[in-house]
Amino acid sequence: MGTVSDAHNEESGKKVTVVFVLGGPGSGKGTQCANIVQHFGYTHLCAGDLLRAEIKSGSENGTMIQTIIKEGKIVPSEVTVGLLQQAMEECGNDKFLIDGFPRNIENREAWEAVTGIEPEFVLFFDCPEEEMLRRLLGRNQGREDDNIETIKKRFQVYMESSLPVIEYYDAKGKVRKIDAAKPVEDVFEDVKAAFNSITDKVAP
Ligand code: C5P
Ligand code: MG
Repeated sequence: MGTVSDAHNEESGKKVTVVFVLGGPGSGKGTQCANIVQHFGYTHLCAGDLLRAEIKSGSENGTMIQTIIKEGKIVPSEVTVGLLQQAMEECGNDKFLIDGFPRNIENREAWEAVTGIEPEFVLFFDCPEEEMLRRLLGRNQGREDDNIETIKKRFQVYMESSLPVIEYYDAKGKVRKIDAAKPVEDVFEDVKAAFNSITDKVAP
């Protein structure tokens, strides 16, 4: 089992704590991350948001990223890890919630190779596909990938590529599984319990 000191990492001489937030599309990662930020003082970095911002910025990778997102596939890890690392460096905080990452084994390996940071734990939002579909089709955020055709591909990528990452961390005893089909407030109660158990552990 990892100790507290194992889970703290040196990044540019600074101790950083990272929690990965995983779960299928529409499982409520973003919604719950906003609550966690308010309650526990983490900085929320959403891999999908960073990629969408990169498209908007008109960067040289923008067109490639846009095509991949429309197909529900996964952007090459060097791009995503680079964006996450840059966002962490630009931010003064030392506690990060990283949402929607690592999305596949390649993401995880690239992260480890580049940052060497081991997550404190992995918050896993477990939600039935029909509920995720209902939320995605109802949320109306103007996203190009919230259409039934792309959603089906995203579900498939999630099952094939993302679940193995959750299994990897589960085998290390790092996964805190949350029933994400419940109402937002109830889910947050379970999320708080997961974070409090860590805080209790860290407290002297
Ligand atoms: O997490 P979110 O639903 O915002 O991600 C939207 C899309 O961004 C994904 O379907 C995928 O195409 C891309 N993405 C990625 N790699 C990640 C996170 C998101 O390629 N680690
Ligand atoms: Mg999201």
